[in-house]
Amino acid sequence: MAMLEPEENRKAPEHTFVLFGATGDLAKRKLYPAIYSLYRRNLFADRWLVLGVARRPHTDESFQAEIRKSIEMYGRMTITDEEDWANFVLRFHYQSVHVDSDDDFTAMNNTIISLEQKESLPGNRVFYLAMAPEFFGEAALRLKKCGLLAGSGFKRLIIEKPFGHDHASAQQLNDQLRQVFEEDQIYRIDHYLGKEMVQNIEVLRFANSIFEPIWDNRSIANVQITSSETVGVEDRAGYYEQSGALRDMVQNHILQMVMMIAMEPPSRLKTEAIRDEKVKVLRSLRRYKPEEVLEHVVHAQYSQGVNGGKEVPGYTDEPGVDKSSQTETFIAAELFIDNFRWAGVPFYIRTGKRMDTKATEIVIQFKDMPEHLYFNHNGGLGPNLLVIRVNPVEGMYLQLNAKRPGSDGSVIPVAMEFSQESDVTPEAYERLLHDTMRGDSTFFTRWDEVSLAWKFVDPLAETFRNQTDSMESYAAGSSGPLSADELLKKRGFQWWPVFGQEMPALAMEHKFARTVEGHRS
Ligand code: BG6
Repeated sequence: MAMLEPEENRKAPEHTFVLFGATGDLAKRKLYPAIYSLYRRNLFADRWLVLGVARRPHTDESFQAEIRKSIEMYGRMTITDEEDWANFVLRFHYQSVHVDSDDDFTAMNNTIISLEQKESLPGNRVFYLAMAPEFFGEAALRLKKCGLLAGSGFKRLIIEKPFGHDHASAQQLNDQLRQVFEEDQIYRIDHYLGKEMVQNIEVLRFANSIFEPIWDNRSIANVQITSSETVGVEDRAGYYEQSGALRDMVQNHILQMVMMIAMEPPSRLKTEAIRDEKVKVLRSLRRYKPEEVLEHVVHAQYSQGVNGGKEVPGYTDEPGVDKSSQTETFIAAELFIDNFRWAGVPFYIRTGKRMDTKATEIVIQFKDMPEHLYFNHNGGLGPNLLVIRVNPVEGMYLQLNAKRPGSDGSVIPVAMEFSQESDVTPEAYERLLHDTMRGDSTFFTRWDEVSLAWKFVDPLAETFRNQTDSMESYAAGSSGPLSADELLKKRGFQWWPVFGQEMPALAMEHKFARTVEGHRS
């Protein structure tokens, strides 16, 4: 696996990177900065090229100027050496292409061939579809039809989300892609899989002998996965109205984190062995029938509120959103993985926009000490927690109970903690682009994962569609609707606050020291 190799062995081979959607937001915010960081880290072979394609006209020079702006605005690394910059940016070329035009694709192929000849490139091509999803299938088919996949060298396809809107549309898209590409040529991006701490789950679990023996339903009481955002729908109403939190976050990012936590140890640390184990988690994930959904799932929409000290509108007053929209901006759910390891352990997930905090965290809550035993004399001892902080802080901590220094019989929770500077770790897109160039698909979504994730999500979407009165509301800037707390309370649990979130009253009880009377008797 890529991450275990030393950096100097990890150069991307010579290739041409063809970026559809070259003038779009994703390209500017994430992809150009990622390519620049890879270049600065010396992770490219000497020869490589980027051909940006989109509808609007650009010359190579005006395109290169846009790239500079995007790196200055969003880059992890700043431009310090003009000569080095010139050597970087001269590799970027641009061509205006309409995705429905055979002529444009043929012209693009001619451009690529002549650039490759000029640079003596071997014909390795990576095509990245960072464009509106309705064009994914058509673009892939046209690549083949117009000869862009012919000739020697590898040909790979990177595809952004959303991968379909439900199982049927995902299947249809996949069928189109598979007419042109083999499964191992398709790199379905889930940028959460490129995050440092999500990748670290595997290392934490499989490089430490202390966790595996307790990583199951004998020791773990529940797992909590939170991905909360403070931003609202921003200018993405056109997309978000069709997707909502369920399709935008749960079908992909959240279920990927569930898989990483719950998978069995793979037979080897090899791409397909890892993906085989991940997909088994989804096979064991209990699917709710539409009539069972509301017992286990809460969906809600933000209303007007205060966020970051500012009054912000409710979802239905956001630009581009239908006034009577029933799109959920928050989901909390209780999942069950019905296998021997996890039977009976609830996996709680929650994600929402316009919440009080921007944080992604995974909490493993271990079982309580037996009541009345030793220090748990009055049943008030807090549980051990293993917390994996994905964002904005990267790190983890283990919450233990210890004696309050100098006291007699007073127990307090203490944290063994490590955190790392997130601004020095590579961005998710940096890793994922590099992995694709090197042909490592470990941290990409395989078709069977996508398919099973939709099969889990579809009945939830159906219930939301048919039972609109079950939609709840939460004030922007809050931690979500109360019924998300009820979901846990009914089994005697609570959400643990994520980094930056205020301690709810219940958590305070555990947070502070208590005197355990009579524990010595
Ligand atoms: C994207 C979603 O996939 O992930 C966005 O489409 C969301 O709606 C984003 O804001 C969250 O990503 P991150 O890395 O900021 O947690």
